[in-house]
Amino acid sequence: MIFYFSGTGNSLYAAQTIARKQNEPLVSISAALASGQDQLEYNLMEQERIGFVFPIHAWGPPQMVLDFIGKLKLNGYKKNYVFAVATCGGNIGNTMKLMDACLKKNGLTLDGQFSIIMPNNYIIMGDVDTKTREQEKLIEAENVLKTINQQVAERMHGEFGLVKGFLPWMLTGVINPMFRKNAMSTSKFFVQDDRCSGCGICEKVCNCRTIQVNGKPEWGKACSQCLACVHYCPSKAIQYGKGTEKKGRYTHPQLTFKDMMQS
Ligand SMILES: Cc1cc2nc3c(=O)[nH]c(=O)nc-3n(C[C@H](O)[C@H](O)[C@H](O)COP(=O)(O)O)c2cc1C
Repeated sequence: MIFYFSGTGNSLYAAQTIARKQNEPLVSISAALASGQDQLEYNLMEQERIGFVFPIHAWGPPQMVLDFIGKLKLNGYKKNYVFAVATCGGNIGNTMKLMDACLKKNGLTLDGQFSIIMPNNYIIMGDVDTKTREQEKLIEAENVLKTINQQVAERMHGEFGLVKGFLPWMLTGVINPMFRKNAMSTSKFFVQDDRCSGCGICEKVCNCRTIQVNGKPEWGKACSQCLACVHYCPSKAIQYGKGTEKKGRYTHPQLTFKDMMQS
């Protein structure tokens, strides 16, 4: 069973590729959390592999992934092979330590740890990659995915090619908590009325179901900062603060907003 979370399609594409190859069902973390249940129960087949595929958000897993694991109940878990795949624009810090600790709390052991560099979608600081770099990353990601699929098929234990960056303890131990504390709000999102057609795509791709389009989008309080609303808006009408208007937009080229629809 492959559980995934994705804002702009990189992690969904990786999760789909792995699920297809391993012949495992794919489960959306965002859709599962939207059920509002305190406990999220799944029945495992014998020997079933359990995977978590998600983007890096400030050198940690998205909060929704951690919330999901906290509610997860896997019926029939008998030391099944558990693995995590983080997609990132550059590096992941000590994300896997956070994943390991979170899974342990729920009685699960993280056996295989993987990361894949994919095109960057964090345009609040920095920008999207150039088209050339985006292409390079997507081609290399295919190779990495093939290797991961072989390692997962063989249930290999350990860390495999994790790109942790410089001072990973600081990235995850210091910057990630600051991000969680200060950057999770919707207060800086706004829509440029002259560009917005009211198409409703932002509402449909929102992982937190926080957007309601009544002619124009309105944001509630909850937010995962996945930036799906910003990147999937077909008229580039959604901005975050002053910094995103002149920045590029990115969505995985093999998926459309329909693949990302949450409702
Ligand atoms: C809020 C946020 C924070 C991010 N932080 C990091 C980071 O710390 N390191 C990194 O390499 N990429 C970072 N990224 C880039 C994404 O991890 C990367 O583009 C990922 O593949 C996107 O996956 P998705 O398309 O499934 O959402 C960040 C993206 C967002 C939206």
